[in-house]
Amino acid sequence: MPAPEPAGLFRLDELAHTAVSRAVRALPDGISPVLLDATAGNGYDTLFLAGLVSQGFLYAFDVQEIALEATRTRLQALQQPHPDVRLILDSHAHLAQHLSGPVHAALFNLGFLPGSDKSVVTGRASTLAALNALAPLMARGGLISAHLYTGHAGGLDEACAVLDWAAALPRSVWHVLHTVQLNKPGNPEHLLLMARR
Ligand SMILES: C[S@@+](CC[C@H](N)C(=O)[O-])C[C@H]1O[C@@H](n2cnc3c(N)ncnc32)[C@H](O)[C@@H]1O
Repeated sequence: MPAPEPAGLFRLDELAHTAVSRAVRALPDGISPVLLDATAGNGYDTLFLAGLVSQGFLYAFDVQEIALEATRTRLQALQQPHPDVRLILDSHAHLAQHLSGPVHAALFNLGFLPGSDKSVVTGRASTLAALNALAPLMARGGLISAHLYTGHAGGLDEACAVLDWAAALPRSVWHVLHTVQLNKPGNPEHLLLMARR
């Protein structure tokens, strides 16, 4: 008999979506939401964000045209009214050149594009640059989710840097939660949820 699938809360991507969804649904009426997918990749997260709201703006970054093309294709599934989606071929390190705040929700699904060139990967310097640029743009009540992978070259270094960055956020301004696959030896995934008070 096959092992039962773990409940969605044990998948960190689903946990991230649940948290972002709750943050967005809690926005006061009349707000035009600004959402960010910092790593568009295959477009799953961008499509999820686009389905959350019927207006506003959604910015999705990636450094690979192939990723933005996959995201563009995936977005064709959108039927209902949705935000104005801007697909941006640039590093998220430069996000402040493309958008201004306030930002209401942001997803960082770090690492490499599954099924593609593993040498094109997020890294400590650009991820920290993006987080530093984004933090002052976050709306009160806004949420940043960062899904960190440690199994690929540079992943642990990036994860440690982002965890240190999050741990240093002032508690008077930010709630920070850290979830980790505690019993996955060697290369556990981490999820950081950072909510602006
Ligand atoms: C794990 S994938 C993202 C998965 C995606 N969110 C999805 O739903 O399919 C990571 C992506 O980050 C992109 N990436 C790498 N460095 C980047 C950077 N500095 N800025 C933006 N995207 C970057 C990669 O090209 C890759 O497509």
